[in-house]
Amino acid sequence: MTTADTGKNNDQAAAADRTPVVELRGTGKSYGNIRALHGVDLAVHPGKVTCVLGDNGAGKSTLIKIISGLHQHTEGEFLVDGEAVRFSTPREALDRGIATVYQDLATVPLMPVWRNFFLGSEMTKGPWPVRRLDIARMKKTADEELRNMGIVLDDLEQPIGTLSGGQRQCVAIARAVYFGARVLILDEPTAALGVKQSGVVLKYIAAARDRGLGVIFITHNPHHAYMVGDHFNVLRLGTLELSADRSEVSLEELTNHMAGGAELAALKHELAQVRGVDVEELPEAKDLQAPMAASSEGNS
Ligand SMILES: Nc1ncnc2c1ncn2[C@@H]1O[C@H](COP(=O)(O)OP(=O)(O)O)[C@@H](O)[C@H]1O
Ligand SMILES: [Mg+2]
Repeated sequence: MTTADTGKNNDQAAAADRTPVVELRGTGKSYGNIRALHGVDLAVHPGKVTCVLGDNGAGKSTLIKIISGLHQHTEGEFLVDGEAVRFSTPREALDRGIATVYQDLATVPLMPVWRNFFLGSEMTKGPWPVRRLDIARMKKTADEELRNMGIVLDDLEQPIGTLSGGQRQCVAIARAVYFGARVLILDEPTAALGVKQSGVVLKYIAAARDRGLGVIFITHNPHHAYMVGDHFNVLRLGTLELSADRSEVSLEELTNHMAGGAELAALKHELAQVRGVDVEELPEAKDLQAPMAASSEGNS
């Protein structure tokens, strides 16, 4: 092979690397006449954490429901490995390697940790009429996989309901990795957690990224996002208000995007859906922010 050939192959490999595993192009979703999402561009790359931030009602859940196959987009495109797709069920998304860890985890609290790890995909042994659960292999595999992710639990026999919320999230992440996820969607995994447990979950988000998964991390906490994020998308009222690489945005800027203005805008949006409230009469975000900024400057 000549050097020129090698160069060409490298170029091709590099181009394949750059194809996002999941991509949205001008994607939107309306529920009847409620437009929850509009004109969103988003790219998820392997080995990167793509954060989606936004206040309540910003459209974060709608966005991940499209990618995870629960809802279908009504505008724009949704591509997986560069190919336009439209999933009708979460199973179809899972078959393409897109796994979602929901806030209300789909676990059976009274079943042991290892059993939950394999829930719905149990290992069996023996030929058909006498096929039975391969308990020993499931316990061993669950134990190995959790350790591989750096998750150490004393006893895999304990009911999963006895684990902390953070630990349950971690088991769900390890499970998705084991079952071959290429894209891992986490819907507000730290929202109900304290500082320490949030830290643990962030650590496993980084571990999943290091194993080459493309992680979509949904959060309304810019600090959590900034700790692990490579790219930041801020949604406001269903549209992207910011899409920036880590090198292009500071934590302070990210926090500013999430605060003040966005809150007021969301409030107006909600009020607009209540009959009798004239939102045109309400002040604009910029009018409220200016005096506040001035007074805080004055104080300092
Ligand atoms: N199934 C639905 N039917 C009608 N409107 C919906 C539905 N789901 C979400 N919405 C609306 O879409 C907007 C975005 O919601 P959502 O995606 O849940 O935001 P987030 O997850 O950021 O809080 C909100 O105004 C919400 O009321
Ligand atoms: Mg939500």
